Amino acid sequence: MKLVLLSLFCAVLGLLNAWPENPQRRRPWWNQLPRTIGARSVVESSSRIVGGVAVNITEFPYQISLSSASGSHMCGGSIIGSRWILTAGHCAFSSEKPLQQVRIGSTDRTSGGKVLRLDRVVQHPQYDSYAIDYDFALLELKQDLLFDESNQAVELPRQDEELADGSLCRVSGWGNTQNVQESSRYLRAADVPSVNQEQCATAYESFGGITERMLCAGYKEGGKDACQGDSGGPLVSGGKLVGVVSWGLGCAQPNYPGVYSRVASVRSWIEEITGI
Ligand code: ARG
Repeated sequence: MKLVLLSLFCAVLGLLNAWPENPQRRRPWWNQLPRTIGARSVVESSSRIVGGVAVNITEFPYQISLSSASGSHMCGGSIIGSRWILTAGHCAFSSEKPLQQVRIGSTDRTSGGKVLRLDRVVQHPQYDSYAIDYDFALLELKQDLLFDESNQAVELPRQDEELADGSLCRVSGWGNTQNVQESSRYLRAADVPSVNQEQCATAYESFGGITERMLCAGYKEGGKDACQGDSGGPLVSGGKLVGVVSWGLGCAQPNYPGVYSRVASVRSWIEEITGI
C-alpha cells in the first residue's frame, strides 16, 4: 500500500527523470506516464516544500541536490562527511558506475555551486521498496569536499537517539512542480513539529502503518510539509539530521504528517559504511 502512496507522490519526479543514464533498467510501473494518477497529481502539482519560505544555502549548507546524468533535479540529500551524502533509498540506484551527480553549495538547483560525480552508491541492504522501509542510501563522492559557508556536513544523532514528540524540525528542498523552470528553482524550507509515533502509526494504519525506521513530522491541521522532489532531503532538529524525506499521503494534508526515514535507527550502518 505504501508503494502505491510513494508511487503517486513520486510519479511527477519519475516523469521528469526518464533515467536516461540507465536505459537497461526497466522503468518501474510507478514511473510510467500515469493516466491513472488523476486528480491527486493535479492537486499536488503546484506544491513544493509546502508552506515554507525561500532560504539561502548558507543557512542549509548540508543540503545537496541529487540529479540524473542529464542534470535534472531528482531528490535532495545531506552532506554528512567530506566524501559522503545521505539520501533516500528510493532516490538512488546502486550501480557499478553511478551516473547520478550532486550539486552542492547552491541555492539555485539549476546552476552555481559545484557539480560532483559519485564513486559509489550504497543503498541500505534492507531497503524495501514495497513498505518503503529502510529508505536510505549513502553516496560516496569521487573527491573530498572543501567545507565553506555553503558546504558543511550536518551532525548525526546517536544510534537510537530519541526525538521528543513535538520537537521543532526543519525540512528543506527543491521539490518538483510542473512548472520546473521557476517555482522550485530556489531552495525552500519549512518548520514542522515531530509527531508521536503511535499517533502517526494510527493515522497511516490503513496504509500499512509505519515502522521503527520511520518518523513523522507535521501539523495536525497540515499546511506545512515536504513534497515530491524533496525526497532524500534533510529534516534537522537541534542541529542534527534526524530524518530523510521519504513519503506521505499527499503533501501538507491535515492528519497526514510527512513520513521521514529515521536516521538514528541506522546510525551504526552509516558508521560501518562511511567510518563517520
Ligand atoms: N516520495 C516523495 C519524493 O520522492 C517525497 C514525498 C514526501 N511527502 C510528504 N508528504 N512529506 O520526492
